[in-house]
Amino acid sequence: MQQFEEQDYTKRFSLSLWKKILGYAKEYHKDLYRLALCMGISAGCDVVFPLMTSYAIDHFIPTLDHAGSTQGVPVFVIVYLLLLAVQVYTIFRFLYLGGKVETGVCYTIRKRAFRKLQELPFSYYDRMPVGYLMSRMTSDTQRLAETIGWSLLDLAWGSVMIVAASITMFSLNWKLTLAVLIVVPPLAVISWWFQQRILHAYRAVRKTNSKITGAFNEGIMGAKTTKTLVREEMNMEEFTALTHEMKRSSVRAASLSSVYLPIVVSLGSLATAYALWQGGQLVTVGGMTLGVLQVFVNYTVQFFQPIRDIANTFAEMQSAQAAAERVMTLLETAPDIVDTPEVEAVFGDNFHPKKENWPALRGDVEFCHVDFQYKEGEKVLSDFNLKINAGETIALVGPTGAGKSTVVNLICRFYEPTAGEIKIDGVNYKERSQLWLQSNLGYVLQEPRLFSGTIRDNIRYAKLDATDEEVEHAARLVNAEPFILKMEKGYDTDVGEGGSRLSTGEKQLISFARAILADPRIFVLDEATSSVDTQTEQIIQHAIQKVLSGRTSFIIAHRLSTIRTADRILVIDGGKIIESGTHQQLLRQKGAYYNLYTNQFQEEQAMEILGGAAQA
Ligand SMILES: Nc1ncnc2c1ncn2[C@@H]1O[C@H](COP(=O)(O)OP(=O)(O)OP(=O)(O)O)[C@@H](O)[C@H]1O
Ligand SMILES: [Mg+2]
Repeated sequence: MQQFEEQDYTKRFSLSLWKKILGYAKEYHKDLYRLALCMGISAGCDVVFPLMTSYAIDHFIPTLDHAGSTQGVPVFVIVYLLLLAVQVYTIFRFLYLGGKVETGVCYTIRKRAFRKLQELPFSYYDRMPVGYLMSRMTSDTQRLAETIGWSLLDLAWGSVMIVAASITMFSLNWKLTLAVLIVVPPLAVISWWFQQRILHAYRAVRKTNSKITGAFNEGIMGAKTTKTLVREEMNMEEFTALTHEMKRSSVRAASLSSVYLPIVVSLGSLATAYALWQGGQLVTVGGMTLGVLQVFVNYTVQFFQPIRDIANTFAEMQSAQAAAERVMTLLETAPDIVDTPEVEAVFGDNFHPKKENWPALRGDVEFCHVDFQYKEGEKVLSDFNLKINAGETIALVGPTGAGKSTVVNLICRFYEPTAGEIKIDGVNYKERSQLWLQSNLGYVLQEPRLFSGTIRDNIRYAKLDATDEEVEHAARLVNAEPFILKMEKGYDTDVGEGGSRLSTGEKQLISFARAILADPRIFVLDEATSSVDTQTEQIIQHAIQKVLSGRTSFIIAHRLSTIRTADRILVIDGGKIIESGTHQQLLRQKGAYYNLYTNQFQEEQAMEILGGAAQA
């Protein structure tokens, strides 16, 4: 998805955005103040040390003007050591606090973002690619936390350092200070100019790098497809172009850095040389002590460091602003399916349900004049009406893209009607909480999702307090046990990430068992048995009839032989119900269902004959 590719950031520094982000770091405000204080004290020590040296030079060392004396040396040593101890302690504190703030802020933002992801409805995930969300959750939050933890503190350190050093220099000799500080404005401008470009170049490197990782990924995952399509050469060319770009941007970043540093050092040295030259003259005529000259030289040598830090911090913050903005967008996304405050007050929210107020769900479902569209202007359903009584088994059939899955998605409230209403047990489902409905739903999808863990864990996922006996009973009902027992560790076999070690059919059986265990009032099977063999499917059919009697169920299946026993079959085309009735009734009508059924029947027979011929 092109529109989600990382954009280069050229926007201006936005204070309001950072204020908002800092709002998310509220718990750490105290630590931040402490951190700034430590940085300030540490910078103060850096300013005081040259003054101490200056005192030592002027008082303890003999010169032409005065004889050296050792009086006061012990006090001096003690003060010096104390100061050193203070600085060592503040350094220890700010490293500790910086780390604490960084991990803490990262933790807080990730927790919020994760919670947000739990709240957002299906439609959000239609729009957002997984990779995009992953990098919001990981690298962006990390980047933000780093910036808040460290960059702001560099700012504190640098400012204190510059201000304190300037004041001291002015108080010692304002003329020389002015002369020396002339290099500061060009230094600041140059630093700002370079730091921005250097950061920019490094970002380009990172971006290309993630593209390369993506290409590796596709190259490996899609190796089979590549080979069958004979695309090796093209892939190679694309990859070479990427790595070439990587080389170019890396070299650019390196050259910028290599030009910047010498410039800064030379400017600093020029200032130092000037201070030495002018100050030296002053010393010879007696206008300045050697100690004070030493202070000047020391400060000017040190001066460029904070300036560089500050320039770097601003550039860093400006570029982290993109990350900040993306994370904030995620955190501030308003879900389009929400329970009203009145509903929440009675039924509770997703994290704190008030189950004592939940009415029992019977399972009557009614669509009243429902319109629905995924995208503006592309209506999938319009004025859709349907009434189903509790306990009925409804089959939905029809061509690809007809709107079958859409109908059941609406029933589950994964999406809401854009007009009209859906009633469950005679009440518009928006008047009850999402969790109430979804706790009473069992949903088995064409592409089932399992979670890392054992088969047992995965079945139990729907009802955490189920006993082993209940879990195994559910598995037996859907005929999943034979394959489970064949696995190395039976029910305790690890299914791999997302169930990657199982076949699609096996995953379907497990999600089936999971749905049965949940004991839902409404059952939705969307192509749930499309990947299991016909024999297993028949066994599941029997199980369904046994387990589902008395519950409302919706079955979508391409294989029509599996839905013959449904109480009602709805033929859907173009978002409309074009036929409705039992298998027998619809066959007698000789309409769309009849055609679908006879076609499929003939196909199946032809396949059987072909299969038989091949075996013979
Ligand atoms: N998440 C989505 N975003 C945008 N459009 C969608 C989305 N899901 C489905 N559609 C569109 O809505 C229409 C109905 O799709 P639906 O998935 O309900 O069909 P279906 O009958 O279940 O088809 P199939 O038999 O292939 O599963 C299609 O035109 C499809 O392109
Ligand atoms: Mg579908």
